[in-house]
Order: sequence, then structure tokens, then C-alpha cells
Amino acid sequence: MHRPVLVREVLAAMALTPGMIAIDGTVGAGGHAAKMAAAVGPTGRVIGVDRDPLMLRHAAAALESFPWATVHQASHSELRAALDEAGVDRADAALLDLGLSSDQLADDSRGFGFRVGDGRGGGPLDLRFDVRQGRPAAELLADDDETELTRILTEYGEHPRSAAIAAEIVRRRASRPIRTAVELADLVEQVAPAGSGSHPATRIFQALRIAVNDELGHVERTLADALPAVLKPGGRAAILTFHSLEDRLVKQAFVEANGWRPTAKKPTTATPSEVRLNPRARSAKLRAATRITA
Ligand SMILES: C[S@@+](CC[C@H](N)C(=O)[O-])C[C@H]1O[C@@H](n2cnc3c(N)ncnc32)[C@H](O)[C@@H]1O
Repeated sequence: MHRPVLVREVLAAMALTPGMIAIDGTVGAGGHAAKMAAAVGPTGRVIGVDRDPLMLRHAAAALESFPWATVHQASHSELRAALDEAGVDRADAALLDLGLSSDQLADDSRGFGFRVGDGRGGGPLDLRFDVRQGRPAAELLADDDETELTRILTEYGEHPRSAAIAAEIVRRRASRPIRTAVELADLVEQVAPAGSGSHPATRIFQALRIAVNDELGHVERTLADALPAVLKPGGRAAILTFHSLEDRLVKQAFVEANGWRPTAKKPTTATPSEVRLNPRARSAKLRAATRITA
């Protein structure tokens, strides 16, 4: 079960009141969206968007008692199309909660989850949110050369042993393709043994996920075009990020020159008690801004 992060802070940043139109551009399991739907009430609207049809099923169930909330399969970089489908022109507020849901992590069929030794992670290494777009991670591992693999692991995973892991991927695939999440996790563990903290493969999976879904490309397009085009002047945007690459994009986008007035200089982070209850909140950063131009 996915536990939404920084809920109180997100709702305060969006400043929702009854009758407003709100977008959840990464609706996931619908945790934040249900709170948004309660805040805007039956005279308002919530438009939930996600690339992953599995998550849209979870969201639809979570939003069942709010008929003024609808869900749409799209990327947040295609918000205009989702709003057109919902019959809405522009919105008062929008949320993006980037990254992965725990429901996806628990889905063995696309390789998001891996646990060496407990039998999970035997599914194919795919890692796409929307299997109609892009290529599966196993294909990337089979086809890309060592330089490109090193770049992906270094840039998107910031793993200190990226070059050694890329070299091992290239060595192993010469005799046998890397097909499953557990095979990759096992390879990483052999090159970079676990220390304390998260599994050494966590950042490698993050890097591949970012690459196969072109996650940063979508965030860039959303910040530059999709979000400004659907928010009313005075509308609020709230964005939760979980790694520095995304936070940097949001920080650079939310400036007056781009038509945004950030609500604070520094991002909001989770309190120690939220982190205790929800480890995923540890790296969360919330940035919010008001749209100051049409
Ligand atoms: C952290 S979860 C959101 C959780 C949600 N806030 C909740 O309360 O349940 C992130 C979601 O974003 C989705 N996602 C990732 N990239 C996306 C994109 N470009 N457009 C739309 N959804 C995306 C994922 O499929 C996932 O469901």
C-alpha cells in the first residue's frame, strides 16, 4: 500500500478551496488525489493523470467516492490532452509527485522490485511505466555500449561504481543476456557489495528506470510547456522530487523570468516523525510556485 508523502504540506501549497479545479499529474494510487478531491468538493474537479494503467486502476478505486475526480492515461507532459479528455480548460492547481509508487515496486511483472534471495524479482526486467513507449530495460542492457551504460548509471544513479558495473554487464551479457531484476541485482551486489543503508542495486534500478522512461525529458517538457499551458494565472504548482537531478530542474524552472513566483527559497522536507513512519519521505523535496503570467 502506497503511503503519500508530505500530504499536509502539499495541500497547503496548492491552497485548494471548494469549487476549484485541480490536476494530479502523477495520480499513482490516488492518495494525494483523494485529499485534493475532498478539498475541492463536489463543485470542483480533480483530473488524475498517470502513464501506468496499473496505477490508474488503483487511483480509480481510491477515488470511487469522489465522482468529480476522473483518471486519464497520459504523461504529465501531455496535460493538455488529458484536460481536453476531461472537458476542462484550465486548472487552479497542479501536483506532481515524481518517481515510483510502492505498488509498482511490488509488481514483479515489470522488474521494479528485486530482493535477492526471497524469490521476488524473477520477472522480466522492463521498468517502463507505459509499455507502449520506449524499450524495456533488458533491451537497453543488451544493446547499449559500455560508455553509454556508464553514462546512464553515473548520471541517473550517481552510483560510485558505475563504470565497474557497466563493465561487468558487458562481460556477462557476452555469454548470457541479463533478463530479470534479480539477475541484475545479483550482478550489482557482486561488483559493489552491500554496505549499510539501501541495497547497492537501488540506484542502478533508479538509473535504468529514468533512462527507459525518459523521465527527465518528460519533466523538462512539463515544466517548460505543459504545466504553464494548463494553469490559470495565479494558479499553484506543487512538485515533489526524490533525487537531485529532478529537484534541480524544478528549482531552475520556478523563477520569475519563466512566469513563476516560488513560494519559498528552500524546498520543504519531511519531519523526522514522517520519515520514521515512511522511509520514502527521507529524500522528498517539495517546491511550490504561483503562476504569474497567462
Ligand atoms: C510516487 S507515485 C505517485 C503517488 C501518488 N501521489 C499517491 O498519492 O498515490 C508516482 C507516479 O507517477 C507516475 N509517473 C511517472 N512518470 C510519469 C509521467 N511522465 N506522467 C505521468 N505519470 C508518471 C508513476 O507511474 C507513478 O504512479
